[in-house]
Amino acid sequence: MKTCQIAPSILSADFSRLGDEARAVIAGGADLIHFDVMDNHYVPNLTIGPMVCEALKPHVSVPIDVHLMVRPVDRLASDFAKAGAAIISFHPEASDHIDRTIALIHDGGCKAGLVFNPATPLVWLDHVLDKLDLVLIMSVNPGFGGQSFIPEALNKLALARSRIDAITARTGREIRLEVDGGVKVDNIASIAKAGADTFVAGSAIFGGGDYKKIIAALRAAATGA
Ligand code: DX5
Ligand code: ZN
Repeated sequence: MKTCQIAPSILSADFSRLGDEARAVIAGGADLIHFDVMDNHYVPNLTIGPMVCEALKPHVSVPIDVHLMVRPVDRLASDFAKAGAAIISFHPEASDHIDRTIALIHDGGCKAGLVFNPATPLVWLDHVLDKLDLVLIMSVNPGFGGQSFIPEALNKLALARSRIDAITARTGREIRLEVDGGVKVDNIASIAKAGADTFVAGSAIFGGGDYKKIIAALRAAATGA
C-alpha cells in the first residue's frame, strides 16, 4: 500500500487569509494543497483562478493539487501549469479531447488526473489509464464543500484500485487514487480500506480548529495506526 497523503481543500479556508491558511495546514502536516477551481458553468459555483494560484505559490512548500471544475478545460489547464500547479485534474465530460488535454498537462510539466463524478462510469479510463498520474473519485457532487459522503464511492474506489494495480503491475507506473468530498475522521478508515491513498478534506480540516490535530487524526485513521 502506498503512503497516505492528506490534501486539505482550501475551498473551506478563510479566503481573506489564504496564504496564512495554506502555511498553517502545511505546518500541520498537509502533503498537498487541494485547489478547487469552479467556473459557474460546469458547476454552479465560482471560486479562484490561476492568478490566485500564482499568488499562493510562494506560501506553499508542498505540491499544489489543482482540481478543475471548468468547461472548456484546455486553456485553464495550461494557465495553471504556468501558475505553479504540480498536479492538474479535470472532468472527462468537460473536455472535448481527453487524450489531448492529458498531453497538454504533461507538456506543461505537471501530473495529470481524471476526475469521476458520482454517476460518471470508470469506462472513461479504458484507453487513457496508462497515461494518468492520478484518478480522482468524487464522493459528492462537485461544486460545494461540506456535503455528505456518498457511500457508492466506496464501490467505485475498489474498482478503480484494481484497475490501477493491474496497470502498475504491468508497467510499473505509479498512479495515485484520490477521493474528494465528505471525508471525515470517522469515515476515512473505510475509504482507505476501499483503496484510496490520497484524501481531500475541506470542512473536516478547516472547520475543525486545530489543523495539526485533525490532520494527524485523519492520517492515523486512514493508516490504521
Ligand atoms: C467539491 C470540491 C471539494 C470540497 C471538499 O466540489 O471538489 O474539494 O472542497 O470539501 P469537503 O471535504 O468539505 O467535502
Ligand atoms: Zn476538489
